[in-house]
Amino acid sequence: MTRLVIVSNRVADLTKATQSGGLAVGLADALRKRGGVWFGWNGEQHDTLPESAHAKRVGNVQMLSAPLTPEDYAQYYVGFANSVLWPLFHYRLDHVEYEPEFFDGYCRVNNYFADLLVPHLEPDDLVWVHDYHLIPMADCLRRRGCGQRLGFFLHIPFPPHDLLSASPNHERLVEMLLHYDVIGFQTAADVSNFRHYVEDWNVATIADDGTLQFDGRSIVLKAYPIGIDVETFRTMSAAAPEDVRIDTDRRELLRRKQIIGVDRLDYSKGLPERFRAFERLLAHHPELERVVSFLQIAPSTREDVDAYADLRAELEGLAGSINGRHSDFNWTPLRYINRPVSREKLAALFRASHVGLVTPLRDGMNLVAKEFVAAQDAEDPGVLVLSQFAGAAEDLAEALIINPYDEDGMADAIHAALHMPRDERRERHAALLKRIREHDAAAWLASFMADLDSAGRCPPGRHPETVSTAGFNDLTNPAFTETSP
Ligand code: G6P
Repeated sequence: MTRLVIVSNRVADLTKATQSGGLAVGLADALRKRGGVWFGWNGEQHDTLPESAHAKRVGNVQMLSAPLTPEDYAQYYVGFANSVLWPLFHYRLDHVEYEPEFFDGYCRVNNYFADLLVPHLEPDDLVWVHDYHLIPMADCLRRRGCGQRLGFFLHIPFPPHDLLSASPNHERLVEMLLHYDVIGFQTAADVSNFRHYVEDWNVATIADDGTLQFDGRSIVLKAYPIGIDVETFRTMSAAAPEDVRIDTDRRELLRRKQIIGVDRLDYSKGLPERFRAFERLLAHHPELERVVSFLQIAPSTREDVDAYADLRAELEGLAGSINGRHSDFNWTPLRYINRPVSREKLAALFRASHVGLVTPLRDGMNLVAKEFVAAQDAEDPGVLVLSQFAGAAEDLAEALIINPYDEDGMADAIHAALHMPRDERRERHAALLKRIREHDAAAWLASFMADLDSAGRCPPGRHPETVSTAGFNDLTNPAFTETSP
């Protein structure tokens, strides 16, 4: 089998299973089975950078990682990736904080990663680059003479072209994407946004078979909805740790019901709207007091980005006011946990919950929605309440689909979920389970790999002469100027 090389900003610790949802979980599920190489940032900041990546073998996966400098971290990770691209691609222009040096840092880190990766590549490798941090990677690798097939998958939404054009670097960004052989998105809506951009800005032509024609090459452009390892998660959910079992038994004894939400603490997840919808539920249905509790797990991320600190303060205020108003001496309506919880425990908590709330304002796919479905007891399943703006909604139509901006509507859907008859719950769950099994981690990997495997190979050495250097020429990074043609 051809070797798979995955490149992503974050790499998961494959010896642990501590997260839920997100890129690292999706890739870990996919890579554990097939094996290969995984390259990325080790999460550390050092004043001086190494000349080679740190290598470590975990089972059938060769892990390669490297640190960033504090300046790289500020300009590339906090700056361009998470203060420009993340809000922009999630349709949140109000959170975009743009500084010109962010784009320089973004390109510099992509070049640094490419320098560290190239010595590890073999001619027949399939190189699969992930997410918005690494859009320039194909361009960087081609400039170093790499002729391997290069694929890109965007885990987050791709915005409509008029939103994208609010970024000063949008033309360069899209041009960088066109150096890949396969460009994958989560949903048909994302593909359509990208196609419209390409057509409206006259960047490339689209052939009848849907491929992009650019610079004499044919580029595959498709939706590959990411999935999870369903059976592993189902098995995990059935083996509840003792503390979850005791909590569940107590709830059953008191005839109480649990609503659950699990998200990174991110403004794209619609958490204040969800908290307010829960309060409306209690206000509209006082009979639910002491009957329903809402468990929200939301570990902090990206704390160096101001918008995340503001969100944390807002949620703490909301949680305090909801509990202050509604709690009783033996009942806390909202339990808000700001720390990470192990994936094993999450799986059991999902299974022990009657309603799963996945209500982002915008989300690429949202694997928590799939994890909640996978964890349910098929005989007596809980109900998924899902935002129409999560990529998962394109596929999971049997969930209760809501508009997260409509807080009363969300409260009504939670009420309907809590009272849904068992037959209807079983019917909806069976359809959802079938869907997540069809679109699981293995299917996602296989379909992308099949397209990348059959993509046209780039003749070695072709790119350095033919690719435009616009956008890189102004960089002062010595690493780039030394290696660029
Ligand atoms: C999302 C992004 C990933 C990212 C993850 C965690 O899932 O699509 O690329 O790794 O969030 O965010 P962080 O900034 O901690 O890597």
